[in-house]
Amino acid sequence: MPEPLAPALARVRAELLDRERLVRAVAAGRRRGGSPRWRRADLRWVELRDAWSLQVVTYDERQAYTRNVDAAAAPAAVDALLEEPYGNWHVDTHGRTLQLRVTKRGDAQLHEGPSTAAPPERPEPSRTVPGFGTHDRVKPHLLAPHDPLFAAMGAGADKRRQVDAFLRMLQPVAHRLAGGPLRVADLGCGNAYLSFAAFRLLHADAGRDVELVGVDLRAVARERNAELAGRLGWADQVRFVAGDISTVELQPTPQLVLALHACDTATDAALARAVRWQSPVVIAAPCCHHDLQVQLRAAAPPAPYALLTRHATLRERFADTLTDALRAALLRLAGYRVDVIEFVASRHTPRNVALRAVYTGHAPDPAVAEGYRELCAAWGVRPALEGLLGDAVPVADSSPAGPRG
Ligand SMILES: C[S@@+](CC[C@H](N)C(=O)[O-])C[C@H]1O[C@@H](n2cnc3c(N)ncnc32)[C@H](O)[C@@H]1O
Repeated sequence: MPEPLAPALARVRAELLDRERLVRAVAAGRRRGGSPRWRRADLRWVELRDAWSLQVVTYDERQAYTRNVDAAAAPAAVDALLEEPYGNWHVDTHGRTLQLRVTKRGDAQLHEGPSTAAPPERPEPSRTVPGFGTHDRVKPHLLAPHDPLFAAMGAGADKRRQVDAFLRMLQPVAHRLAGGPLRVADLGCGNAYLSFAAFRLLHADAGRDVELVGVDLRAVARERNAELAGRLGWADQVRFVAGDISTVELQPTPQLVLALHACDTATDAALARAVRWQSPVVIAAPCCHHDLQVQLRAAAPPAPYALLTRHATLRERFADTLTDALRAALLRLAGYRVDVIEFVASRHTPRNVALRAVYTGHAPDPAVAEGYRELCAAWGVRPALEGLLGDAVPVADSSPAGPRG
């Protein structure tokens, strides 16, 4: 059904300016009687020198022009493009795609569907793995579902999607990992789908010298994974340890810590280890969140929020949100900049939120510490991560009159 153009463009605008969700957007085609200044425009967010910029690539008939617009100037740059008489906007976000077509009458035809950033499984003409430069073309997959590596690992369709989407979170921050060899740890690696895929992306495709270690409690996983590393010819660079994330000794310590669906507080253990190792980049997609669910059941909810946790299903979802909000706050207090990202469509896994943390070394913000304390005190909880971090993160109130939540 056609609808008025202005509110439809406002929706596109909101998606373009949502740095945590936008994967890529393209404006192309022309409206009836209109002639856009550029034949086409591509937009995506990139991280440059500690700050996020909106990268705008415009094309005329002969060449492409790339400019990186800082976050403050991004709304004006987006508005200027939205004013151009493009006939189509195609916006890929994590998990869904929004398409706007302008009809002959000048109305909007909006279509929303699953993300074409992770399209249905089908062969593609060539392997689609870009490098890490800021001018790379964005392609539908970093590791396509039909890639032989997935078959060698025995990964199912959903796991393939999760892994590809996880790599997408890594791509924009990979340049933070300077020097070589790049040391990577996949904590709670299980069958090491992510470990091998990350190694392939960083080493075989981006040409980095990489040493990767996968850690999992299960000795049987270590044996299977080590055997596969040998078959793939990567045994010298990819190794596996049977051990507990909380205590495993990794020397030298990893620069990049990954954790995909490490159970319950194993995610907290991974985050805490990364903080103590001062790893520059940490990406963790948590799994179940029993820790706070149990605590929420035991404590009286603060007024007027009792209805939020009255029903088990809602209490579970609320515990997920509360846990990840508090984890993000703790990471911020530890000097990390944190993005919370819905990295893959929920039909591939309900555990589709990830924390991506990049170390900046910024001093802890007292307002974040206060917000953290107040939230914990209100709900009567103490997250596992706080205990694991101990003195590494200052959450105690140091002001003379301040109460400790
Ligand atoms: C749900 S699986 C996910 C595996 C893999 N990352 C993936 O996404 O396919 C969670 C894995 O974490 C491992 N795990 C749980 N707690 C752990 C701990 N404290 N130390 C090491 N591994 C742990 C389990 O053995 C299991 O293999």
